[in-house]
Amino acid sequence: VSLKPYNTFGLDVNAKYFIEIKQLNDLKEIVKANKSDKLFILGGGSNMLLTKDINKIVIKLDLQGISVLEETNDYVLVEAQAGENWHEFVLWCIEHNYGGVENLSLIPGNVGTTPIQNIGAYGVEIKDVMHSCKALDMKTLEIVEFTNAQCQFGYRESVFKNELKDKYIIISTIFKLTKQNHALKVDYGAIKGQLEEKNITEPSIKDISDAVIEIRESKLPNPKEIGNSGSFFKNPIVDKATFLRLQNAYPKMPFYTVSDEEVKIPAGWLIETSGFKGYRLGDAGVHEKQALVLVNYGKAEGGQIKKLSETIQREVYNLFGVSIQAEVNIF
Ligand code: EPU
Repeated sequence: VSLKPYNTFGLDVNAKYFIEIKQLNDLKEIVKANKSDKLFILGGGSNMLLTKDINKIVIKLDLQGISVLEETNDYVLVEAQAGENWHEFVLWCIEHNYGGVENLSLIPGNVGTTPIQNIGAYGVEIKDVMHSCKALDMKTLEIVEFTNAQCQFGYRESVFKNELKDKYIIISTIFKLTKQNHALKVDYGAIKGQLEEKNITEPSIKDISDAVIEIRESKLPNPKEIGNSGSFFKNPIVDKATFLRLQNAYPKMPFYTVSDEEVKIPAGWLIETSGFKGYRLGDAGVHEKQALVLVNYGKAEGGQIKKLSETIQREVYNLFGVSIQAEVNIF
């Protein structure tokens, strides 16, 4: 089976076996019947670079459903099954006036994979709104609930990418969302700009979502048109000394202070300054509006994109002495 329709990079690799799972019991059956290293779990396919055929059973996790678990005057606990499309879930929240995820509009992928890399954009991360998540223990077949703290969230990090990698399958995620007095996050420059442009002084969560959608559409390629996986690299976090050295050489370099000791530098700026923005080699390229995004213009192979990413890493390192790491999972 070709996985081309199932990964947002649009890479044409084959899966030896492919199965779509809509029921939790079916998932348990298949996990029970196979060694975990024979299984490959696929969510929305939005954060992966496939470089070769997959000689495993690819499980397309398609568990559906959104339900309210608990409700007070102020907040609501909503459980969304892993196979729900993330952006559709965000739109559902906005329709019901449940606040908290509006800044995360239009992020590709499914609900179930959002905690794994703690998705984030425009000043909000999933860890700010996630109450807990439920996961299938692949060894015992038990459903385990992880609290927010147990997920050990960091910048694009969680326990599921580290100690618990390949041990659990997230089946649903529970969010704590506001029903009134929404804690709006509008500090992000581009959001402020959008709202001002429209003369919106008291934005609703829908206004924020609309602004985010506009910003993303203006910068980020739509995977339905040009294959991509969003940010290919993480923004590197450097120590103070490195930061001061760089700032001295590049006074205009953008940065975010992380702590007294650490500063985050936008990888997109490092890549653009290394001359790669809009660079293209065959069908593999660097997006022309956002250098952090690698793209497949049509027939690129995963290996070519991987090679391009390594060239970029090398050049960025040579120029700045900073190593940038892939955010997407490379298989
Ligand atoms: N920049 C450049 N050149 C570029 C791209 C960016 O100079 O080609 C500069 C911008 O001018 C700006 C700074 O870098 O000063 C930051 O750029 P931007 O606001 O576009 O955000 P980012 O740091 O590049 C991160 C996330 C995005 C998220 C945005 C908005 C990571 C790895 N990426 O990108 O997430 O949407 O912030 O919050 O943290 C994703 O993960 O797939 C993703 C798109």
